Amino acid sequence: MAELPTSYTAIEHALDQANVVKAMLGLKPVTKKLRNPEPDELLLKMEAASINPSDIAFLQGNYQIKKNLPTVPGFEGSGRIVATGHLLDAKKWLGKRVSCFTQQDKDGSWAEYFYAKPSEVLLIDERLDSAQATTFFVNPFTAWGLCEIALLRESKTIVVNAAGSRLASFLYQLASMHQIEVIGVVRKQSTVEQLKELGWKYVLNENDTDFVNQLKTLALQLHANTAFDAVGGPASGILLNAMPADSENVIYGGLSNKHLADIDPLGMIFDNKMITGFNLIDWMAEADSITLETAQKTITEIMLSGKIKTWIQADFPLAEIKTALKTYLGNMSAGKVILTF
Ligand SMILES: NC(=O)c1ccc[n+]([C@@H]2O[C@H](COP(=O)([O-])OP(=O)(O)OC[C@H]3O[C@@H](n4cnc5c(N)ncnc54)[C@H](OP(=O)(O)O)[C@@H]3O)[C@@H](O)[C@H]2O)c1
Repeated sequence: MAELPTSYTAIEHALDQANVVKAMLGLKPVTKKLRNPEPDELLLKMEAASINPSDIAFLQGNYQIKKNLPTVPGFEGSGRIVATGHLLDAKKWLGKRVSCFTQQDKDGSWAEYFYAKPSEVLLIDERLDSAQATTFFVNPFTAWGLCEIALLRESKTIVVNAAGSRLASFLYQLASMHQIEVIGVVRKQSTVEQLKELGWKYVLNENDTDFVNQLKTLALQLHANTAFDAVGGPASGILLNAMPADSENVIYGGLSNKHLADIDPLGMIFDNKMITGFNLIDWMAEADSITLETAQKTITEIMLSGKIKTWIQADFPLAEIKTALKTYLGNMSAGKVILTF
């Protein structure tokens, strides 16, 4: 192992700001002292880190996960293990390439080095490029968990909003592998066209004047009984109200920053419609090891085959965090922006 430096650079977030521009401008690179890992910790030399909607919500103080400030943001990334705590098997871990994900109250992944517990890392195939390795954990596994719900509900068709997202693209691929049709809902005509070019058969623009009727007709015709909702706010009511009886709307994101609204209570009372929530951390905690190993192996294989891939629109060095966030927020459907080290 190469000798480790005594310090490293990380991005610091000192104050939650509801205004996303202010939140972005408040970020700054800081120098931190590199310490030995705690007895049960791994030390990762980071390769890259993701920027996800949850990071934006966190900077705004709008996320469920709160940390003591100042802190280093970033929930996901990838790197190589360069040191291990004395309680861990160094032979098993040292030199391994891993994807990491944490929501603990500690410094996150927007840093040259990151301290992780073994439960917060997944071994990564060396053949995956850094973009795929970095985005391997959160979206693919969430899509896997959501697809499991569709299979349990024997859905012939699912409805997915924010369909231009990376997560939706994984969900589309996994659903297609199980012959489940997908109705995508987006908010921009350019995203409708982008998805159609990628082979999506059914994509609706929620800003079309006739959107609700189009969704109602298609959902009924294709027997859609599960919706996966990353938006919240009035979109949640619009989705569930337009779906046939016995439908479930699974809320897994809050991109609108609004509380669920406009849900027709009669649909829930007389048509057995339901609203539930999904959270990756809880799903992973409940999933057995065989499910997790199968998901990891299958996701790796399909990523390597090129069938599923996280599109990356740009990568930036850590020092350019503000430009990276601005690029990402400027067009989230164009692909992920990652930080590279
Ligand atoms: N529950 C969980 O465990 C879990 C785990 C992972 C991810 N998620 C959630 O999954 C969602 C997608 O994540 P991702 O990383 O795949 O996103 P992403 O690739 O960064 O893309 C975000 C997408 O959301 C769309 N969008 C943003 N704000 C919107 C709004 N107010 N109304 C409609 N569409 C909007 C964007 O469309 P435009 O181009 O039109 O802006 C873009 O297509 C997020 O909500 C994230 O928090 C949840």
